[in-house]
Amino acid sequence: MSGKIVITGAAGFIGSQLAWRLYRAGHELVLIDDLSFGYESNLLIEGKPFAELHKLDIRSPELHRAIENADCVFHLAAVSALPVNQSEPDRAIGINVAGTANVLEAARRGGVRRVVFASTSAIYENNTSFPCREDDPVSPALIYSLSKWQAERLCAAFGKVYGLEVAVTRYYNVYGPHQDIRRKSPPFVGYVIRELLQGRAPVLHSNGEQRRDYVYLEDVNDINIACMTHPDAVGGIFNVASGQAYSVNEIYDLIAGIVGTAIRPEFRPAARFWEKYPSLFEGRKPMDPHILEKEVDKFTLGATERAERVLGWKARVPIADGLRAAVDYTRHLLAGQGAATTKNAMA
Ligand SMILES: NC(=O)c1ccc[n+]([C@@H]2O[C@H](COP(=O)([O-])OP(=O)(O)OC[C@H]3O[C@@H](n4cnc5c(N)ncnc54)[C@H](O)[C@@H]3O)[C@@H](O)[C@H]2O)c1
Repeated sequence: MSGKIVITGAAGFIGSQLAWRLYRAGHELVLIDDLSFGYESNLLIEGKPFAELHKLDIRSPELHRAIENADCVFHLAAVSALPVNQSEPDRAIGINVAGTANVLEAARRGGVRRVVFASTSAIYENNTSFPCREDDPVSPALIYSLSKWQAERLCAAFGKVYGLEVAVTRYYNVYGPHQDIRRKSPPFVGYVIRELLQGRAPVLHSNGEQRRDYVYLEDVNDINIACMTHPDAVGGIFNVASGQAYSVNEIYDLIAGIVGTAIRPEFRPAARFWEKYPSLFEGRKPMDPHILEKEVDKFTLGATERAERVLGWKARVPIADGLRAAVDYTRHLLAGQGAATTKNAMA
């Protein structure tokens, strides 16, 4: 058993379930989140918290005390919703970039053995050759992807300048239990499940033929743990992808089949996708609608060879099984049985 493990963003979707997995394996945990987007209820099991949450902003000078002497820091805290990043660039850069610098600085000063950073496949947003490989040149322009790419560069810099052990993971579309369905613009899978379980027609954008690579939460936990332990993870960047792209319509039909509903979605133009964030379309230079259309219609597919070759990791959970687990969880949540950590649907 290793020593203390820190998770930033631990009250969020992925962080909470990584925490639960590590808790069950008997690790000592320090969980950090400022609850700006996460929920303490994600850290409950049978009504009780399974580990203590430190309500701390990753930009705080107090961070170093929480991180000190950790065996591993999983750095997941971020402003993760794309329209929030785009409409509040100073906040997003402050947390996603400067916050990451604070985590890395605390880690290197505090004798942390390894940092595992959660980056995103969104940094490939302008790439046109598929599947995307980790060494492909990237040129992200949206604030979220740009901030993550800058944070990746910081990780590389701390590795080079201080010899800090850092591994970077680039998640594709992660889905599963505990995806946040309460926020203003919930992620696609969680949103469709929520609407269908409540008997409403989901509002989707474009024509539903856009295809993306989806990866199940428990597979993400597996690669995070491999990045914590594997000697060859150090200095590496790894796509966290299933290597299979599904269309919105295919995912929709799978969810509708699991829920057992004949409700059909309503489609709206892609340019209206971020209409709940009107500031983006105001001012003297409003956002170019073509950029948003491109983002909505974006195709994604990740190359998985590197993670398989270096870490022996490959996504295992079939999409239908993962979606069923997500539906089961949301059914419980909506039935008022609390957001308690599932006894992991796939475990
Ligand atoms: N979910 C996905 O499909 C996906 C894909 C690619 C990358 N990622 C990345 O993975 C990580 C986890 O994603 P998620 O889906 O669980 O997101 P999430 O929004 O559910 O979790 C992020 C957590 O970070 C916390 N946080 C935000 N700012 C903070 C701050 N200043 N100090 C402390 N905590 C703060 C939030 O409260 C939240 O609980 C994020 O870095 C995200 O960008 C997620």
